[in-house]
Amino acid sequence: MLTARTVQDLHRLVSAWRRAGCSIGVVPTMGALHAGHLSLVAASRGRADRSIVTLFVNPKQFDDAADLARYPRTEESDREKLAPYGIDLVFAPPPEVMYPAGFATNISVSGITDGLCGADRPGHFDGVATVVSKLLIQTRADFAFFGEKDCQQLTTIRRMVRDLDLPVEIVGCPTVRDPDGFALSSRNALLSPEERACAPALHRALNAAAGRLRKGEDTGCLADAAAGIAAAGFSAVDYVELRDAEDLAPMDRLDRPARLLAAAHLGRARLIDNIPVEPAIRDSSDRRNHRGN
Ligand code: PAJ
Repeated sequence: MLTARTVQDLHRLVSAWRRAGCSIGVVPTMGALHAGHLSLVAASRGRADRSIVTLFVNPKQFDDAADLARYPRTEESDREKLAPYGIDLVFAPPPEVMYPAGFATNISVSGITDGLCGADRPGHFDGVATVVSKLLIQTRADFAFFGEKDCQQLTTIRRMVRDLDLPVEIVGCPTVRDPDGFALSSRNALLSPEERACAPALHRALNAAAGRLRKGEDTGCLADAAAGIAAAGFSAVDYVELRDAEDLAPMDRLDRPARLLAAAHLGRARLIDNIPVEPAIRDSSDRRNHRGN
């Protein structure tokens, strides 16, 4: 497993792989790796001839300096976790390599980034879009792997890649969860044991709400999901929303494939989760009636 800390070193390796006709996969991360990240690494190894994992805590996507300062930086243990996966390269640039003095470019994707987490985290998705576009260009990857856990991020990146004609396939990977349903996240380390015990309520509330939406209730029922999350011990619920699966447009009932998303605060952590929801398939007599047969 090689390491590059400068764009020049990265380019030397990537150019040699390209000349040899190898396809390249990249897994962008901010480190503090857990099984969720490692599922992306395994997906890249399965798809591309060469795999790069990037470790970079991106200052541009933090709206709060204290949050940036306390973000875990654990390169040594990250390397140990990556060792069994046989990846080819870790790209771990220092901030001044990614953002040299005078850096003045911002990538901003409108619409998709307006509500949900965009409403509470000004500038966050611009920071994500800017760093991800740099990483995709720097690594010249054919495939880039992102988690569905960060659904608004994944949708934003897909839009950006389409809009800018970046020559890369974005691969979305399912959320990895603990056995009690709680989605893995680097921020889970901030929870006390008592808070960790409350945490699965977020996923449970989404599943319960999905069942009601599938039975035909409108999004009025999402207020109960938010109340359930608060009652379980979360200090504040930022949102529980039903959005179109493709473009995250707001929906008021489940009439097409959708995503049900939530964000809520527990102790020092702000937790997010989302699940796919499809309208229930009507029985065959319904479908015949619908077609007018
Ligand atoms: P980070 O939070 O480190 O996450 C890196 C990747 O791991 C993201 O694509 C995220 O969606 C995925 N991931 C996190 N938890 C997951 C889980 N439980 N199951 C599956 N995948 C999971 O997201 C970022 O970093 C940054 O915004 C980044 C894209 C690297 C840009 O700085």
